[in-house]
Amino acid sequence: VASEEGPVGDYDFVVVANRLPVDRTVDEAGESTWRRSPGGLVSALAPVMSSHSGAWVGWHGAADEELEPFDHDVFHLVPVRLSEGEVRRYYEGFSNATIWPLYHDVIAPPEFHRTWWDTYRAVNRRFAESAARSASRNATVWVQDYQLQLVPAMLRHLRPDLTIGFFDHIPFPPLEIFAQLPWRKQVLTGLLGADLLGFQRPGDAQNFRRCCDQILGVQFDGERAEVTQTPQEQHEDEENERFRRAYTNAMPNVTSRRRARKERLNRDLPTWIARATSYPISIDVEAVTEMASLASTKRRARQIREELGNPKTIYLGVDRLDYTKGIRHRLKAYGELLNDGDLTVESSAMIQVASPSRERVASYIELREQIEGMVGRLNGQFDTMSHTAIRYLHHGYPFEEMIALYLASDVLVVSSLRDGMNLVAKEFVVSHLDHTGALVLSEFTGAAEQLPDAIQINPHDIDGFKEALLYAKNMTIEEQQDRMKGMREQIFAHDVEDWSTRFLEDLSKTREDNLGPEPS
Ligand code: G6P
Repeated sequence: VASEEGPVGDYDFVVVANRLPVDRTVDEAGESTWRRSPGGLVSALAPVMSSHSGAWVGWHGAADEELEPFDHDVFHLVPVRLSEGEVRRYYEGFSNATIWPLYHDVIAPPEFHRTWWDTYRAVNRRFAESAARSASRNATVWVQDYQLQLVPAMLRHLRPDLTIGFFDHIPFPPLEIFAQLPWRKQVLTGLLGADLLGFQRPGDAQNFRRCCDQILGVQFDGERAEVTQTPQEQHEDEENERFRRAYTNAMPNVTSRRRARKERLNRDLPTWIARATSYPISIDVEAVTEMASLASTKRRARQIREELGNPKTIYLGVDRLDYTKGIRHRLKAYGELLNDGDLTVESSAMIQVASPSRERVASYIELREQIEGMVGRLNGQFDTMSHTAIRYLHHGYPFEEMIALYLASDVLVVSSLRDGMNLVAKEFVVSHLDHTGALVLSEFTGAAEQLPDAIQINPHDIDGFKEALLYAKNMTIEEQQDRMKGMREQIFAHDVEDWSTRFLEDLSKTREDNLGPEPS
């Protein structure tokens, strides 16, 4: 257990995320510069960064490149170096071919490789050490997402003075699925190093608490559990035990829970309260509203409609090209409607933006081939000289173009098979300032719980999906406005600033409780 004498840094508020909040771009003179990344998280944390002395620890997106810390607008950025092998094993491997599919209902089969795990652990340690070097005495550190689940406990070992928060942006799976992970104990122990753990849905927080109970014997009383620091050597023991029992013991067992509890009672180790509950993330309502109000955005939206031949209905899908998004289901439903004659290419168009993502990961390569095959077949069958069935765009677009696309469209189709939240749905609703338009929303998104006024679908039920697409197209203006009003009220009352403020206030309260008198 580390003492309080380690090195300390200058920053009172430190965000730790896999990615830095900037993207590298090349300007007209051919110079490479940084631009603030779009997205709610970055705009929610910008004001917190400038009102505190804030730093952001993250990867800058290139392999084998060591960058010195630098400042960009309100951010002090601390780049973390990753070698090409680490990008393969930590980022593409363990983060995106083990944890990502495991946490998204095993839609793609997760792969378990010991070398990936070793690198995940080593890279998490590098992030934790970098945060520990940046944070001032008693600073607050907020760790983001599934790529960094071991950082909270590592940080607590390195710097027991810190207040540590963790937010999981993706779903947390049920015990029956999580239990497959050979390193399930280490991951839970890593997370429990935080004072406060935030999840998207109440169900995610519940899954996490149940996993802690069944796998570690850490029992929650409501949202709170008493956690005992695991000494470094216990990590090692568990590692050995894992090798012995690999794959022979898929389900948690009660004996090990009892043993864990007994071991804790026999040791004189620091304890703290960890709290786990839900904080559904949202969007920057002001930024979206402002962009949607600009004359130039409205002009661009009209232009998009014209370029598509002014169809009566424009359906829109906007996703990272990811198997969790249900893009194939969407194409199937839409293609059947064209085939049945319920839709025609003259009267309706479908725009599918599929932004490139994790392009070297096998399941993403395979998915791209499937989707592009489907789009090619549909367009081959239904296109005319002047109209196309699916306008497929394998690009990422800047924020202003995204908002113009939302404005140009009548129906946004979100058909995720599993999705932590889905912010595209919220952005579409907020950008429609006149309250027209329809949202078809998969019930398997975090957003579905918050937006009961959307037209909700089970994307696996293709007939139900087709009905919803037709229903959305035929909805009266009054019904559109009625539903939009309900959804807009919800999103305006809970924007991303509200999200970060609530989390950070609760984090400091949890810490205060922890610093209170020790129970005898
Ligand atoms: C999801 C994750 C984020 C991630 C983003 C883009 O939203 O929750 O942590 O940054 O996808 O994925 P990428 O792999 O490009 O960072």
